[in-house]
Amino acid sequence: MKRPYEKPVINKLKVNFMNKFGTGTFSLSKKVRKEIEGVPVEKLVEEFGSPLFVFSEKRLRQKFREVKNAFTLRYPNVEFSWSYKTNYLDAICAILHSEGETAEVVSEFEYEKARRLGVPGNKIIYNGPYKPISSLKTAVEEGARINIDHFEEISDLEEVAKELGVKVKVGIRLNMDTGIKPQWSRFGFNLESGQALDAVKRIAAGGVLELCGLHCHIGTFILDPSAYEKEVKKLVDFAYKVEDEFGFKIEYLDIGGGFPSKNRLRGVYLPPDVAVPSIDEFAEKICGALLSSLRPGDYPKLILESGRAIVDEAGFLITTVHASKRMPDGRRAYILDAGVNVLFTAFWYHFNIEIDREVVGPSEPCILYGPLCMNIDVVDDDVNLPPLPRGTKLIISPVGAYNVTQWMQFIRYRPGVVLIGENGSVELIREAEDLSDIVRREKLPERLKVKWEE
Ligand SMILES: Cc1ncc(COP(=O)(O)O)c(C=O)c1O
Repeated sequence: MKRPYEKPVINKLKVNFMNKFGTGTFSLSKKVRKEIEGVPVEKLVEEFGSPLFVFSEKRLRQKFREVKNAFTLRYPNVEFSWSYKTNYLDAICAILHSEGETAEVVSEFEYEKARRLGVPGNKIIYNGPYKPISSLKTAVEEGARINIDHFEEISDLEEVAKELGVKVKVGIRLNMDTGIKPQWSRFGFNLESGQALDAVKRIAAGGVLELCGLHCHIGTFILDPSAYEKEVKKLVDFAYKVEDEFGFKIEYLDIGGGFPSKNRLRGVYLPPDVAVPSIDEFAEKICGALLSSLRPGDYPKLILESGRAIVDEAGFLITTVHASKRMPDGRRAYILDAGVNVLFTAFWYHFNIEIDREVVGPSEPCILYGPLCMNIDVVDDDVNLPPLPRGTKLIISPVGAYNVTQWMQFIRYRPGVVLIGENGSVELIREAEDLSDIVRREKLPERLKVKWEE
């Protein structure tokens, strides 16, 4: 193939420099990946096209079990509830449900999806700031656990309780200072300002709701386990205040999600292996705080809604180099067939980027652009890569959390998703979209139909 002419540029190469952790440069041996869980990348693309999301069932189950063990070994009463928004592909949810996770949903859509998968109402936790009253009614009728976000929702639930003639058990979501900045204070009732106590008073005064749970989610990708220690202590203190002053028995403490995955957050200099504490460190702080602050013999249920930490590392994205160009500042850029349309988390992370073949040539800092005709479409703006021929496949990871839910049908169709089973089987779990998916809901009024002259 004749190579296009390229104006020569002189670049200072940043090869083989190490940062103080011995990482940071591109090392060919580490960065070539020809297979995922034993299945050749080439074969996956041949069969299912590019780009392609690939999930590993083995990694997903392993990660869940690691999290489960860390907590169940330390505390006797734990429930894991799968955060649907993190990844609500049927196959992913089904795997986690088969491991014993219940469902944590934050919309009617997610609620319906969980029910469609066969999850009973009483195994669903219904969270979120926007719960239409009709959905609250369904949730109450089906026995779901509801964590109230604001005062209007207290009134809505009272209305539902009166209409159905039942006393409804509820939880309330709290927000609090745990040292995490910025503080997530937009959801639930604030603890320190007294708003949370006001919510309890309001519930007690209404007489038709029974407070039985406290919920809190302090943020996401939390790198400091001691923030959870503070959260748990504050929750336990508040639970006993509520019990002693109002007679409500708090049966569960739901501490939300927020544990980090082994991804590299933008702006964090340390590599994930150093920056990200282990699940055991989180479990130790959380369970330690519980056991030291609970009253003897009292073991309310500890609920965890961990999302990212469980599924992120199970997901890979295969994408193909479509073209390369030199930027005016001399930097090398590649255009890929996947961008921020399918990789929403590119805004947060510098992913691990591997290539499907050995390539000869010096590495240099590169920009990875996606396929969108939009300036924001940058997968990574600083990654060291050798000269990649057109057609090279990049394997990007971890991408299992928040991408196949937040991806958008913008400019391009969404790609297929496959699951590699524990025995090496490859199954399509979401077909790639085509035009019919996009136009299915559109209606073109007859009068607007244009008759083109051929
Ligand atoms: C209420 C609630 N629970 C659980 C999660 C899952 O969080 P993560 O993926 O950080 O574990 C979220 C995410 O925002 C959330 O809002």
